[in-house]
Amino acid sequence: RSRHVRDQYGRPLQDLRISVMDRCNFRCPYCMPEAKYHEHFRFLEPKERLNFDEIERVARVAVSLGVTKLRLTGGEPLLRPGLTDLVGRLAAIDGVNDVALTTNAVLLERHADALKSAGLQRITVSLDSLDPAVFARMSGGRAQLDPVLSAIAYAQGLGFRGGVKLNTVVQRGVNDAGVLDLAERFRHTGVVLRFIEYMDVGTRNHWERSEVVPSAELRERINARWPLEAVGPQYRGEVARRYRYADGAGEVGFISSVSAPFCGDCSRARLSSEGQLYTCLFASKGTDLRDILRCGADDQELRNVLSGIWSVRTDRYSEERAEHGDTPTSHRIEMNYIGG
Ligand code: GTP
Ligand code: 5AD
Ligand code: SF4
Ligand code: SF4
Repeated sequence: RSRHVRDQYGRPLQDLRISVMDRCNFRCPYCMPEAKYHEHFRFLEPKERLNFDEIERVARVAVSLGVTKLRLTGGEPLLRPGLTDLVGRLAAIDGVNDVALTTNAVLLERHADALKSAGLQRITVSLDSLDPAVFARMSGGRAQLDPVLSAIAYAQGLGFRGGVKLNTVVQRGVNDAGVLDLAERFRHTGVVLRFIEYMDVGTRNHWERSEVVPSAELRERINARWPLEAVGPQYRGEVARRYRYADGAGEVGFISSVSAPFCGDCSRARLSSEGQLYTCLFASKGTDLRDILRCGADDQELRNVLSGIWSVRTDRYSEERAEHGDTPTSHRIEMNYIGG
C-alpha cells in the first residue's frame, strides 16, 4: 500500500526492534565485556531513556508506515520496570500482529504469566551453553544455568502463541564444543534452537574472524548425527535459515550474518533505549527521535521524520563486509543500546 515506506533498494519497513534498557545483568564477553562494562560504567539515567508514552508513539507511527512486528530487547529488557505495561500498550496497537521479547531469562519466570496476559506472543531466550562452567563464563560470571533452563521450560509450558526460541551465539574455542549437546537437549521439545555466527557488532568485544564458526560447519556436524532437511522461509526476510530433523524431532535454525548475509530483504529498524533510530545493526549514526519527541512534535511530524529516514536508507553492512573483506569502521553502536 502506498502509505507504506520503502528504502532505496525497495525494502519495506516491517519490523521495529525496541531496546528498552541499556543495562544487563549478564556480561557476555561478545556483547558487554566486563572490562568495559565495569562498576563505574555510565549507563543511561532513567530520564535519558524513552518513557513508555514515547516508545508507544514511535511504535504507532512506525506501524502507520508498515511495521507489523515489534520486538523488545535490551540490554536485558526485563530490567526495565513495568515492562509488562509496555507490552500491553504495544500489543493493543491496531496493525501490530507480533510482539516478541528477547531475554536472558534470569528474570523471566517471575514475569512470564503477566507478559503473556498482556499480549506477548513470542519469547526468544539467549542460551549459549549447557555446560554450567561455560555458561557461567559466557554470562561473565553473573548467572547460573539451572534457573535459565527452568525459565525456558516454564515459558514453554505457558504456551506462547509463537512459541519459545533459543539464540546461541557460537564462538570458536569458547562454546562450539557444546553445540550437539544443545541440539540434543532441545530435540523433541518444540523449542526452536538457532545458532548465530559471532558478529562484529560494536567495538568493545575484540571480534576476530577466527572465532566465527561458519554455519555450514555446524550444520554438517548436526547433520552427521541427526540428518537435517532444509525448510523454506516462513516469511520474506527471515533472518534464520531453517532446517528440520528428518526423524521429526523438530527444527533448528542458523543465523549466518558473516558467511551468508541477509541484507537483501532487511526490513528492520532499531530504536535504542535513548531514542536513537538506527536503520542497521552496524550503523555508526542514528537519528535522535527523543529530541524530536520532547520538543513537542506531533504525530505527522514524527511520521515525516521516520519516513524520511527510511526512504533514503542504503544499509547493507553485512553484504559489504562479505564483498570487501573486513571493513572495521571506527565507530559502531554497541549491542546493549540496540539489542540483537
Ligand atoms: P524472528 O524471526 O522474529 O523469530 O526473529 P529473528 O529471526 O529476527 O531473530 P532474533 O530477533 O532473535 O535475532 C536473532 C539474532 O540474529 C540477533 O540477536 C542478531 O544476532 C541476529 N540478527 C537479527 N537481525 C539482524 C539483522 O538485521 N542483521 C544482522 N546482521 N543480524 C541480525
Ligand atoms: N554476535 C552475534 N550475536 C550477538 N548478540 C549479542 N552480541 C552478539 C554478537 N557479537 C545477540 C545474541 C543475544 C542477543 C541479545 O544479541 O543473540 O542472544
Ligand atoms: Fe546481556 Fe544479551 Fe548482551 Fe549477554 S548478549 S550481555 S545477556 S544483552
Ligand atoms: Fe539489515 Fe544491516 Fe543486518 Fe544487513 S547488516 S541485515 S542491513 S541490519
